[in-house]
Amino acid sequence: MQLLSVASEIYPLIKTGGLADVAGALPGALAGHDVAVRTLVPGYPSVLARLGKAKAVRRYDALFGVPATVLAGKAGELDLLVLDAPDFFAREGGPYGDAGGRDWTDNWKRFAALSRVGADIAAEGIKGWRPDLVHAHDWQGAMTAAYMRFGPAHAVPRVVTIHNLAFQGRFGADIFPHLGLPPEAWGVDGVEYYGGTGFLKAGLVSADAITTVSPTYADEIRSPVHGMGLDGLINGRADRLHGILNGVDTAIWDPATDPLLARRYSVRALGGRTANRRALEAHFGLDRDDAPLFIIVSRLTWQKGMDMVMGAIDHLVGLGGKLAVLGSGDHPLEGAFLAAADRHRGRVGAQIGYDEPLSHLMQAGGDAILIPSRFEPCGLTQLYGLRYGCVPVVARVGGLADTVIDANEAAVGAGVATGLVFAPSDPLALHGAIARTIRLHASRPDWQAMQRSGMRADFSWTHSAARYAELFRALVQEAV
Ligand code: ADP
Ligand code: GLC
Repeated sequence: MQLLSVASEIYPLIKTGGLADVAGALPGALAGHDVAVRTLVPGYPSVLARLGKAKAVRRYDALFGVPATVLAGKAGELDLLVLDAPDFFAREGGPYGDAGGRDWTDNWKRFAALSRVGADIAAEGIKGWRPDLVHAHDWQGAMTAAYMRFGPAHAVPRVVTIHNLAFQGRFGADIFPHLGLPPEAWGVDGVEYYGGTGFLKAGLVSADAITTVSPTYADEIRSPVHGMGLDGLINGRADRLHGILNGVDTAIWDPATDPLLARRYSVRALGGRTANRRALEAHFGLDRDDAPLFIIVSRLTWQKGMDMVMGAIDHLVGLGGKLAVLGSGDHPLEGAFLAAADRHRGRVGAQIGYDEPLSHLMQAGGDAILIPSRFEPCGLTQLYGLRYGCVPVVARVGGLADTVIDANEAAVGAGVATGLVFAPSDPLALHGAIARTIRLHASRPDWQAMQRSGMRADFSWTHSAARYAELFRALVQEAV
């Protein structure tokens, strides 16, 4: 089967979060199921820089008013179609906003353009290649499904994956006439959303199947608490909704082969973690000792519960713990973490920014990774933690609930615990979980048993890629 994936990020070319990891890993995982994936991505500078020899395969004189070319080429193993539209994508800053964190005001055009091109490729193919199915990711890709449904590619099956319902791509009603959709696309069954335009909403009503990235999140988004205004719509399409857990790209995340570590190690030789721990302590200016070392690798946002962590730092340090934070996000939180590091010299360290190599070292050197999310569609850092023997301490929501087995008496007794799970996502429960982690860490045999169970758990893409492939095949069959 030939599949066109439409995504706004793809590891290792452009990444702000887990979406990139997933868009980058799925093609390799699906190849084993006879699904050949080409991914359409925006031509950001970092993408164009790493694109090998490329051919222009489609041209637009005026795509939403700007000239554009689709380039076909490869970056490593990734088979890419790159939308080279310099007016939209050749900018300093991030994929969605400027260096100061403000969204680009023309984001609606940038991602409508990406989606439009996705639908054009689905309709006309390129150089004899035609997708049997289109898989669009998040609000930035979701309009592909709408353009397909209201255009010539309406017979090609389309899947929209929700990586995070908090980001919906909502714009004014005034953009509708410029989207190039027929008048009947405006309405509750189309792109109209609470009087404005909703890109993700349009994708969800236009998709043949909706997937999201964990079974628990698939349930949660059917309730008003986590549905973010879309629960009604999602409930109405529940028979088309699938929760498929993300996996770990084991070619990139494996402590036995990871070139970014101070020392490589395996489940049979956990002692190798010490060298990584020492490197981490040195990097963050932390005391060199064996106190429980918590790490955080995260966007610093409300979703991730980072404000709650701020309130728990004195408690964590007071109980003898240490904390190393790598992240970026809300400016007040960034400042607060730096201030906490100042206040607790040697016990708390913080680095603001994005640092892929350091994120690997942290998983290899930390004792526990703290993830107190208020909601979490899947979460990948707890999976990396499991694989690296960095015990996840997580809130019981979304994919976190699906992947970590709490160290309660029964689970510890049976040797199956892999981390600590707390609920609800509030400061009191977080304080309790930190105290419980520190107590458990003091019991070496129990702690190591937990590390080993986590490292042996299989969160590779094997199962999930099979589920995607099965769904794709069913949809293609349904379409003929
Ligand atoms: P989300 O996509 O909601 O941010 P995930 O846990 O799914 O959360 O994915 C986050 C990804 O981004 C992981 O690969 C994680 O290691 C990485 N990451 C997050 N913050 C940073 C950072 N500051 N530096 C390096 N990697 C980071
Ligand atoms: C989103 C979610 C995260 C998920 C990632 C990849 O960014 O916040 O939970 O793991 O997408 O699907």
